Amino acid sequence: MASQPSYRIASIPGDGIGPEVVHATIQVVETLAKILGTFQIEFTHIPWGTKYYKQHGRYAAEDCLETLRQFDAGLFGAVGAPDVPDHLSLWGLLLAIRGPLQLFANVRPVRTFPGTKCPLNTATEGIDWVLVRENSEGEYSGQGGRSHVGQPWEAATEVAMFTRVGIERIIRFAFETAQSRPRRHLTVVTKSNSMRNGMVLWDEVAAAVAHDFPDVTWEKMLVDAMTVRMVAKPQSVDTIVGTNLHMDILSDLAAALAGSIGVAPSSNLDPTRKNPSLFEPVHGSAFDITGKGIANPVATFWSAAEMLSWLGEKDAAVQLMRCVERVCAAGTLTPDLGGSADTQGVVDAVCAEIVKLG
Ligand SMILES: NC(=O)c1ccc[n+]([C@@H]2O[C@H](COP(=O)([O-])OP(=O)(O)OC[C@H]3O[C@@H](n4cnc5c(N)ncnc54)[C@H](O)[C@@H]3O)[C@@H](O)[C@H]2O)c1
Repeated sequence: MASQPSYRIASIPGDGIGPEVVHATIQVVETLAKILGTFQIEFTHIPWGTKYYKQHGRYAAEDCLETLRQFDAGLFGAVGAPDVPDHLSLWGLLLAIRGPLQLFANVRPVRTFPGTKCPLNTATEGIDWVLVRENSEGEYSGQGGRSHVGQPWEAATEVAMFTRVGIERIIRFAFETAQSRPRRHLTVVTKSNSMRNGMVLWDEVAAAVAHDFPDVTWEKMLVDAMTVRMVAKPQSVDTIVGTNLHMDILSDLAAALAGSIGVAPSSNLDPTRKNPSLFEPVHGSAFDITGKGIANPVATFWSAAEMLSWLGEKDAAVQLMRCVERVCAAGTLTPDLGGSADTQGVVDAVCAEIVKLG
């Protein structure tokens, strides 16, 4: 008998509801591996986050990149705490990993799940989009500074840096993503009317790359107009690509339009596969519900399914999502989706569906 593939996953639960949804997901994925018996998976706990910061003065270990490179992939919860400024937590952990590991493609699918409500009356068939976010530069390049600190004339700059290489690789990835979907349609989002340098370079690179994808229809759209279109004509949208900041904002909107941010997954990919990719829900620490046991774990389940698919376990990923959809369709939903189930209730229901696969 051929030996089963075996995967080593870095589990970084982080802060707030991060540990709750990651713990929930590990239970589900371990059950899936046991029942399917087609692969093995081992999660190693890594304690980076705000507690680690308060003990060690830094959000992640100094050798965090070398540590992560020992794993096949990472499963991340969330980072951010009410008593630490958000720019310290985000740059201390997540942005300290995404950029240096060149996880340049952030893929954020959104879909209205069976049994859940899409709040838009314009989306008669629900929502099914993929948002592709440039994840390594742009507005989150960390370029800028502050002068005259504390003076009435204090000044601060935040420089958005776009490179031709960075734009081309994400646009190409987005065209490939659009090409893999039935609609074969890509919207390139920029703000090239008012931002006349970097955003114009985006438009030019998109037009050049489009020649290599004659089977994909594409268009460009200004980000402000895109918000209107996502609400007014959701069925006209399929795959969307844009900058780090624009897609950060549009993906929260997309998640809410599809039903809840509690179901939206996110893959931070290094498409060259030189570095392990990192999978996480779109949502953050959710201070308002931390510790209440009601966090929706579906976004992290779906992130784990994307991770399995990326690792080569496509069938397992499909089976996992079918089980999650059955549980949603049966009405086992957390309060953000209008239900009354708690996190563990959803875990138990999904595990029960997985057991039926055996
Ligand atoms: N990737 C990340 O780690 C990440 C992403 C966004 C925000 N953050 C951080 O998280 C903290 C809180 O940020 P925020 O309030 O702007 O955004 P948030 O995503 O944490 O919460 C926004 C709203 O969505 C709800 N929500 C989020 N996830 C949910 C889930 N799984 N189930 C049910 N409801 C859910 C919350 O209860 C809250 O009302 C901040 O420190 C922020 O910097 C981290």
